[in-house]
Amino acid sequence: MASIQTTPFADQQPGTSGLRKRSTVFQQPHYLENFVQALFDVASLERDTTLVIGGDGRYLNREAVQTILRMAAANGVTRVVVGQHGWLSTPAASHLIRQGAAGGIILSASHNPGGPNGDFGIKYNIGNGGPAPESFTNAVAGRAATLTQYRIADLPIVSLDTIGVQTIDALHIHVVDPVAAYAELMESLFDFAAIRALIASGFRIRFDAMHAITGPYAIEILERRLGAVHGTVINGEPLTDFGGGHPDPNLTYAHALVEELFGDDAPDFGAASDGDGDRNMILGQRFFVTPSDSLAVIAANAKCAPGYARGLTGVARSMPTSRAVDHVARALNIECFETPTGWKFFGNLLDAGRITLCGEESFGTGSDHVREKDGLWAVLFWLNIIAARKQSVEQIVNEHWTKFGRNYYTRYDYEEIPTDAANGLMTHLRDRLPSLVQTPIANRIVTHADDFSYHDPIDGTTSEHQGLRVLLNDGSRIIFRLSGTGTAGATLRLYVESYEIGPSHLARDVQTALKPLVDAALELSELVARTGRTAPTVIT
Ligand code: G1P
Ligand code: ZN
Repeated sequence: MASIQTTPFADQQPGTSGLRKRSTVFQQPHYLENFVQALFDVASLERDTTLVIGGDGRYLNREAVQTILRMAAANGVTRVVVGQHGWLSTPAASHLIRQGAAGGIILSASHNPGGPNGDFGIKYNIGNGGPAPESFTNAVAGRAATLTQYRIADLPIVSLDTIGVQTIDALHIHVVDPVAAYAELMESLFDFAAIRALIASGFRIRFDAMHAITGPYAIEILERRLGAVHGTVINGEPLTDFGGGHPDPNLTYAHALVEELFGDDAPDFGAASDGDGDRNMILGQRFFVTPSDSLAVIAANAKCAPGYARGLTGVARSMPTSRAVDHVARALNIECFETPTGWKFFGNLLDAGRITLCGEESFGTGSDHVREKDGLWAVLFWLNIIAARKQSVEQIVNEHWTKFGRNYYTRYDYEEIPTDAANGLMTHLRDRLPSLVQTPIANRIVTHADDFSYHDPIDGTTSEHQGLRVLLNDGSRIIFRLSGTGTAGATLRLYVESYEIGPSHLARDVQTALKPLVDAALELSELVARTGRTAPTVIT
């Protein structure tokens, strides 16, 4: 065992998704080690507890696992569970942690590109399987900024490619199949026999793993266990640079899949997941399901999946997510929580059993089966619903709209705008909010306008300044917030939603339906004058 001098790193403040930086930053001497030592110091794992380790296969994943193993040994850890090849999807890691580990280290920068010029990341999840709370990550950052030495053992390179137990001194290293336990969990939640029958009847699926971590999971579950033909999963081999792509499952980055689903001879169902496997996009034949609608449809049809046959205790969505699921909750007579953006806000509600399902507009959906959002879980839920209802994706969503009404929804992202301009816009709008109440906007009346704050019903904490909301009398909403995950300048997000029930909703184009509200939002915020942007960077 060696004790090595390090330089403290003051820039190691993990965000809600862990510490995310360029790969080159992580390659600075002692950079990773400094952070890992700070993690071990704060986690202060008890003897004979288990630590789970795995990542999404990106550049530096393998090397980082070796470093963490050597440091775990030197820090008195006696049992680690590592995914074969150093791989674990984020939801699979969450599941393994929940099998009795004290915590886990996940190596990923989620949907950010990887490779020598891409990003790398590391985060710590606690014993419930969810991301460590802010108090923990703040303590890690504080520790990382002062730490002058770290402990590392002089171990040989540990073979990560062979499943089995290796014992080196006091450290037992269990290299496990990264997919098996997760696949079992999925099989316990969903009606695999019904999905197998659906596929056997000729239902065609395309799953784009984007050369990220879900490839092995999707091949095992969709092709081997559910009988989809070989080749159903495309880009299924995890690559350290994701094949040069941007592993984010949305209409922009998963465009090849979108083209196939909107083309001639399109499959019946298409889906994709992100770098670490927690996001999902759902497509039908020539049909895109917005993540907000996906959550609502899953909630409305949850009982057809065996793992949810008892019904839902409650649901939650992040504030900017459309209110489609609210209508379902009302019909089911269950609680519906509105939380700030970020998965961590669902943790307490899930742990307390107040909610079963939750989701965000940013392609994240999940349930109480783990404490992370889960891409393949959402895909399997949809397949289970399709198998039970014997309808196409489009028919299911159209019937949903007919029954519950339709929430038209769009998000505009303005990326890399100067921080001062973004802050100025938000301050201007925040100051205007009180004067807007009871005034007309886009032929509607403002009923409420505020800077969203959330009171956690479980731990009593309050989170303020979570986004500016303008609510209108017909159920429409305009929301502005600044992204917490951008790396350059500020990213301003504008979310616009309207609600319609009745026959008119089926045929209308989303952008046309929302144009009056978008125009009103631009005018209220003085966005063009303040940012110089006449168009958003991305429209979803
Ligand atoms: C974005 C999404 C948010 C998600 C987060 C992490 O955060 O909007 O829903 O939880 O990424 O995946 P933002 O950049 O908006 O702060
Ligand atoms: Zn992710």
